[in-house]
Amino acid sequence: MKLLTLKPEMHLYDTCKEFHADTGFTESDLIITNRYIFEPYFSGLPSQARILWQEDYGAGEPSDEMAEKMYADVKGRFKRVIGIGGGTIVDISKLFALKNPLPLGDLFDRKLEIAKEKELILVPTTCGTGSEVTNISILEFKSRHTKFGLATDELFADKAVLIPELLEGLPFKFFATSSVDALIHAFESTLSPKATPCSELFGRKAIEMILNGYREIVKKGEEARKPLLKNFLIASNYAGIAFGTAGCAAVHAMSYPLGAAYHIPHGEANYAVFTGVFKAYQRKNPTGKIKEFDAFVAKILECPPEAVYDELEKLLNGILLRKPLREYGVTRQELPEFTKNVMERQGRLMANNYTLLDDQAILDIYTAMY
Ligand SMILES: NC(=O)c1ccc[n+]([C@@H]2O[C@H](COP(=O)([O-])OP(=O)(O)OC[C@H]3O[C@@H](n4cnc5c(N)ncnc54)[C@H](O)[C@@H]3O)[C@@H](O)[C@H]2O)c1
Ligand SMILES: [Fe+2]
Repeated sequence: MKLLTLKPEMHLYDTCKEFHADTGFTESDLIITNRYIFEPYFSGLPSQARILWQEDYGAGEPSDEMAEKMYADVKGRFKRVIGIGGGTIVDISKLFALKNPLPLGDLFDRKLEIAKEKELILVPTTCGTGSEVTNISILEFKSRHTKFGLATDELFADKAVLIPELLEGLPFKFFATSSVDALIHAFESTLSPKATPCSELFGRKAIEMILNGYREIVKKGEEARKPLLKNFLIASNYAGIAFGTAGCAAVHAMSYPLGAAYHIPHGEANYAVFTGVFKAYQRKNPTGKIKEFDAFVAKILECPPEAVYDELEKLLNGILLRKPLREYGVTRQELPEFTKNVMERQGRLMANNYTLLDDQAILDIYTAMY
């Protein structure tokens, strides 16, 4: 049994200045970032790197069109890619480290040779995706009306760098959506049939850190997150390590058509179906691993195990209010289409479900969350 896949070397710096002193930004570097993230921390420091500002290519999460336009604007050769940003930037940066990644549709369909060519350094500025340690890049494919992940070891970073200082300006809304995403990575990977003792060690620790942090924030208010940012950044990284080995499952699969159709931030789209999926697991196989897992979560939440998903929803609603799907504009007629999309296109994720979820089960969950 392979216990854990963890390729990047991992670093933690208290400040951007220390990271810069160790790394340097040279003329053979390509930095992919946002002005409002990069400038407050790096503008006074020496740099000869070329910079690609992601916000010049559109708002929201990454699409094939956005990444292709960005790639077309990179002139000259570069040897190292440094991605500094949220999951959007990190996932795009991974593709830029490959040799000839275009057209992206063919790359994701594995019709192109996938070869890593550049050194890759990833610096997350949200506390969500854990993408800095995973081998996955996720894009929305406009013509296919959904998001897809490409999972291949060539997408691993050489270095994953955590700098809590960078999260100080992260607005509460994105703190919330990204950390809920991390929590769901930890939940899904812990119940995945591919979970191992090592992946669970990281997954369960992430759950404990995130839920305890949420309890403090709900009690004391949004500003209480500030001293906890380092904890949340580390927890999202742990959750990334956990799902990098054990995978995510139905929550992610079901959120992709929804997120792509209504441009809902990834963590929020996950949360819209999260408790529905876990309640379905609980109903379908209450005496399997979920029994002990629910007791573990209930202990953190100080509630009876039977009430764990209702209590969880109460806590999470204090961080990010869950909206029924209809409030995003989803129509009932779309639910069978989303279901078909999940069953036909998200096999990579659906293989990791705790219990079998067939078409009817997926449709029932969408309907319950509608
Ligand atoms: N590859 C993976 O393993 C993996 C895992 C989970 C999610 N994802 C993908 O990641 C994306 C979501 O990433 P995300 O949740 O990190 O959000 P994001 O990268 O889309 O960022 C959300 C918003 O916050 C802003 N922002 C980010 N950091 C900031 C900071 N420090 N200060 C101020 N503003 C900041 C961004 O500019 C953006 O407007 C989705 O596309 C999702 O599919 C990838
Ligand atoms: Fe995610």
